[in-house]
Amino acid sequence: KISIHADQFGAKVSPTLHGAFFEEISHGGEGGLYAELIQNRGFEDSQVPLGDTIKDGKLIPPRTPHYSIDNGKGISDWWMPWTVKSDFPAWSAVNSDDVQLSLTDKNPLNSATPHSLQIEIKKDGAITGVQNEGFWGINIQKGETYLLKFYVYTDGNYDGKAQASLVSKNGSNLLNKSFTITRKKGWVLYTAELTSTVTDPKAHFELTFYKQGTIQLDFVSLFPKHTFKNRPNGLRADLAQKIADLKPSFLRWPGGCFVEGVNIQSAPDWKETIGPVESRKSTFSVWDYYTSNGFGYDEYLRYCEDIGAKALYVFNVGISCEMRSGTYVTGDTVQQYIQSALDAISYAIDPVTTKWGAERAKNGHPKPYPLEYVEVGNEQHGELYGKRYNLFYNAIHSKYPQIKIIANMGIGDVDPNTLKYMDHVQYSDEHSYKGAYWSMANYNHFDSYPRDKGWDVYVGEYATNNGVGRGNIIASLSDAVYIMGMEKNGDLVTMSSYAPLLVNVNDEDWPVNLINFDNEKSFARISYYMLKMMNENKPTINIHSDVKLEQPANVLNDAFKGGIGLATWDTHSEYKDIEIIQKGKTVYSSDFINHPDEWKGLRGDWRIKDSAYVQNADGAQTFAYLPNHSLSDYTLTLKARKLDGY
Ligand code: AHR
Repeated sequence: KISIHADQFGAKVSPTLHGAFFEEISHGGEGGLYAELIQNRGFEDSQVPLGDTIKDGKLIPPRTPHYSIDNGKGISDWWMPWTVKSDFPAWSAVNSDDVQLSLTDKNPLNSATPHSLQIEIKKDGAITGVQNEGFWGINIQKGETYLLKFYVYTDGNYDGKAQASLVSKNGSNLLNKSFTITRKKGWVLYTAELTSTVTDPKAHFELTFYKQGTIQLDFVSLFPKHTFKNRPNGLRADLAQKIADLKPSFLRWPGGCFVEGVNIQSAPDWKETIGPVESRKSTFSVWDYYTSNGFGYDEYLRYCEDIGAKALYVFNVGISCEMRSGTYVTGDTVQQYIQSALDAISYAIDPVTTKWGAERAKNGHPKPYPLEYVEVGNEQHGELYGKRYNLFYNAIHSKYPQIKIIANMGIGDVDPNTLKYMDHVQYSDEHSYKGAYWSMANYNHFDSYPRDKGWDVYVGEYATNNGVGRGNIIASLSDAVYIMGMEKNGDLVTMSSYAPLLVNVNDEDWPVNLINFDNEKSFARISYYMLKMMNENKPTINIHSDVKLEQPANVLNDAFKGGIGLATWDTHSEYKDIEIIQKGKTVYSSDFINHPDEWKGLRGDWRIKDSAYVQNADGAQTFAYLPNHSLSDYTLTLKARKLDGY
């Protein structure tokens, strides 16, 4: 029986409750939302920027570090090597007998992008050159126009013909354009518009030459003319529209762990993501691939404006990802990071009479952008972060009191060990990944949060991603109940963003995501439609109601119909000899093994015998699930032997 007390009001529901979380993870931007079709267009992707050597326990950075490094924590066991596939990933030779390809740092196009591809054509009339595979194929659509550009360097003694083509898997040419290489020493830009008369989502790009000689190639870009709102250097329309359709009140960028960097030298820097795309440095991130930063700070702010969302920019605080290296800057160097955050705000909102406002105008946007929030770091904790947060907070708040400042405050809950060092918190960002049905059993979760702290809660990352495959109806129901818990506590929980937002199904870093895509198609998971519905039908205020259950025990069992589960928050562990114990008696025992060869390997391959099965759904949790059992059947104890000693 449900009694509704229409005259008893509870908390108002926050109008900003539903935002969106963009992270450069699983090729969400590069090879995803960012519409560029050529992978590794600037030939910068092969250079490991981080130091591929660890000597005497110390990281050796191959690029000159910008900042002094204090590796206070040493290199942790979590350090993971990155994958560098070749000197020039995504590129290969056409007719390899007649051509020699090599990466070179001779005659750089500009100082920010030191590398280019040297192409030695061995004989006249050979039809040879290079090809690019795109991001798991290049999607060519009939009637669409593509903007091609590339730079060729010669020593002044090379001329002759070149041909740019889009070629199908079976080798047939779909689209061609001929060029004559100019006999001029130095870099020359070549451009063309190509309109396709055919459709082929798995095409690749070729650039071939016919005359013997040696040249260099750099910055090869192929861009669809039609992008979201037809912005130049813009976004893939289907993905950008799907995000827009969620009507997010804010958009967070660029992460997530992406913000943190594998180590502090390689962490993203917004100043390297603005201005001409040819001279933007690439970023190699914790997600083990490069982004060209073509979807940079300005493109992000413009997209926020285009979809009516406030911008929420997350910056690095001079501390890198704890799980990868935990390196950080110290002393006066911290000031450079604070200044960088202030400059980012200035770029977004200050008048054109200021240095950074003028830079924004130079990039085509004199009006301020809708930046409303900044977040001080991502998932940082402890004394170092707590104290550092105060420095950022004070500097930003005194210069820009209108900017709302968000603090990292815990994974799953507020972290008291960080909090004790923080002087003032406006918004506390809690990250919350849960298992199936967790929200049903914890509907009152936020009710018990203290109200006297003076901060709003921002659930910056949440999702039901454990025990739900790659995101099924149980996930969306659990997410919906989680959202209802936030709505119910609207006086406290004023912002939230489901994470992650995007996944390219060809390179998944995280198992449950909202919008899935490949280079041709995109589709949203059921939680997306639930979220859209919840946002479009968001209540304004809670009204008191009583729910009387006729058979409470059955309701609980019904909620858990289908089975019971066990979860741990133990990341890289292998378990053996699992027992499930009922009232002191083992009722189930088995053997299941994970193969956590690497971060990505964690997603698959759990095995359990007999009637139970296990899903490792998010790379961080273990979930043992027994179908057709109810909670009342068991007192559950997980007794297991860890194999790896983490
Ligand atoms: O959303 C995926 C990852 O989960 C984010 O990068 C990180 O912040 C969190 O741990």
